Amino acid sequence: MPDPQDRQPFDLTRRQVLEAGTIVSLTGTMLPAAALAQPAGPRPSPENGMTVPLSFHLSFRVNGRPTALDVDARTSLLDLLRERLGLVGAKKGCDHGQCGACTVHLDGRRVASCLTMAAKANGRDVTTIEGIAGANGLHPMQQAFIDHDALQCGYCTPGQIMAAIACVKEGHASTPEQIKEYMSGNICRCGAYVGIVAAIEQAAPRIERS
Ligand code: FES
Ligand code: FES
Repeated sequence: MPDPQDRQPFDLTRRQVLEAGTIVSLTGTMLPAAALAQPAGPRPSPENGMTVPLSFHLSFRVNGRPTALDVDARTSLLDLLRERLGLVGAKKGCDHGQCGACTVHLDGRRVASCLTMAAKANGRDVTTIEGIAGANGLHPMQQAFIDHDALQCGYCTPGQIMAAIACVKEGHASTPEQIKEYMSGNICRCGAYVGIVAAIEQAAPRIERS
């Protein structure tokens, strides 16, 4: 069993983040305003004696651009992207990991950014819909979605496209049935599924497998 002292400061468990959030709630009602104005500092975890930072310095790459900023430890990757970095392509549909509208890539793998703590991105690469077009134009998957009218309102589309690219790279786009299965985590309330499957079939041969 790993020594808790060996853990990195950003290697937070969900429980520790919740504990940190509880501490903030309690101090918010008990401390005077002057104390609340102080920068948030580490608080001991009652369970294991570790320190749980309430804010931390995050350093990562977003769409290839090095980015560093101080972040509240409770921040989700989705909120970080949308509210701190102005990258509003990833959408907040359910905020519970059930719709896929918030899908982005973390080190090339698709994740639901609403369920991913911003701290998990430290030192890693995040790619959003804003970062996939190349110097020569749209990403093949973007173009395929246009070609097949694979959207109506467009709210789910950034997440669909990010999931679709990952689906192809994972090798899960060999047949329409396989595409449907591995895209099942991305909900389209407009029902554009026929176009989405057709778009993925068109783009798949033009996307390199990882
Ligand atoms: S907003 Fe993240 S899965 Fe729905
Ligand atoms: S295009 Fe409207 S939710 Fe998918």
